[in-house]
Amino acid sequence: MKSLPLHVIILAAGQGTRMKSRLPKVLHEVGGLPMLAHVLETAQALSATGRHVVVGHGADEVHGRFFSSTATDRSLHWTLQREQKGTGHAVQQAMNAVPEDAQVLVLFGDVPLVQANTIAPLLRHRGLALLTARVPDPAGYGRILRDIDGAVTGIVEERDASAAQQTIDEINTGILCVPARLLRRWLGRLKNRNAKGEYYLTDVVAMAVQDGVGVATHVVQDVEEVMGVNDRAQLARAERLFQRRQADNLMRQGLTLRNPELFELRGSLEFGIDVVIDVGVVIEGKVQLGDGVSIGPYSVIRDSRIGANSRIESHSVLDSAVVGRQCRVGPYARLRPETVLADEVHVGNFVEVKKVTIGRGSKANHLAYLGDGAVGANVNIGAGTIFCNYDGANKHRTVVGDDVFIGSDTQLVAPVTIGEGATIGAGSTITRDVPSGGLSVARAQGQKHYPGWQRPKKKK
Ligand code: UD1
Ligand code: MG
Repeated sequence: MKSLPLHVIILAAGQGTRMKSRLPKVLHEVGGLPMLAHVLETAQALSATGRHVVVGHGADEVHGRFFSSTATDRSLHWTLQREQKGTGHAVQQAMNAVPEDAQVLVLFGDVPLVQANTIAPLLRHRGLALLTARVPDPAGYGRILRDIDGAVTGIVEERDASAAQQTIDEINTGILCVPARLLRRWLGRLKNRNAKGEYYLTDVVAMAVQDGVGVATHVVQDVEEVMGVNDRAQLARAERLFQRRQADNLMRQGLTLRNPELFELRGSLEFGIDVVIDVGVVIEGKVQLGDGVSIGPYSVIRDSRIGANSRIESHSVLDSAVVGRQCRVGPYARLRPETVLADEVHVGNFVEVKKVTIGRGSKANHLAYLGDGAVGANVNIGAGTIFCNYDGANKHRTVVGDDVFIGSDTQLVAPVTIGEGATIGAGSTITRDVPSGGLSVARAQGQKHYPGWQRPKKKK
């Protein structure tokens, strides 16, 4: 049988009142991405020809969030549902852009964890296919009605259900698949005579039965996949499930996670062999870790690349940094954007580096600010060194040659260049370029002693 082009309709017009948020519900994030992005990704994984997002509440904001990344994607359509008159009404709005020969799959923007391979069996049917679930507590869901032979006869929403129907534990996940030709016919016949006064998509099930169209059901194995997010507690639950799923995948691929319950990946992680990640680590954006890398407890790594056998010690924060091989960073180090460390560099506690390249084997082990510049190889930067890069209006660069030794508590007032092999005495404020070799010392005055000197008194 020739497969029909798949068009996925994603319902995302609801307000999400229970989130108690200014942000439209589908923009709340799971694993660092809006819930809607996960659903769009699932639709893509199913090779959808068209994806149709129905937006309503916060439509501009939802659309705006995706606009720049999807502007050239001609398979993605946005449909406005001005008034939220029910799931059937919402689907109807999107149908204008769906061709007659399509297979339609309906997904919800607030059901972010459902997997493509769970949905795939629904697509093979030529009648109406429903994804259902058996749950211990069916409260709040539409119930699947079956006749004495077990054939589906309809779906009843909780509010419209009799006491007997409310005991049914097979529920509607909301995910269904049906040829556009049939769906269009049924949508035109929907009525809103029900407890909510809405046009229920679920009423098409009874219509299918009436029209003699086969209704197939697939019971989802992992009920958690189809959980909907309606409030912050469910959002947190979805996040945990998502993180656990990711962590399991990563461990299967050979990553050591000291505690998978205390590991967060909000983006993508590539890693080599024997990489170890300790507790409380947060990885964001796109991160690459070479062979043998270890990340210490409670570090945050965002959009960075770390070379083989480098160690990031605890409580370090890396943002858009490149770290070479066999480096040591932290504990308590902060590498900000455009930091590039060559191999075997040491950056120690309370050292902040921004937009600086540091050459092979150089060390800044304690308490320093290195901003805007270039440091050569085998340089030693003493504790308390500051690259004074900012004059109050503009940023300037500090250039330090190979084999330089910078004594503790030194200020290098940029723009300034320190020649190769130079030594700067501790406590110097360097305002002019320093030639190669030799010792430069710049202290305000020699050490003096003032006997009988009085401390200033605090003003009243
Ligand atoms: C719906 C189903 C119910 C199922 C449950 C699963 C119907 C009538 N009921 O109920 O059988 O068990 O989902 O979670 O379909 N939406 C719109 N426009 C609207 C109304 C809703 O876009 O006019 C969107 C919502 O934003 C949401 C989704 O559709 O993403 C579901 O709507 P919701 O009101 O949550 O339906 P439920 O009452 O949960
Ligand atoms: Mg719902």
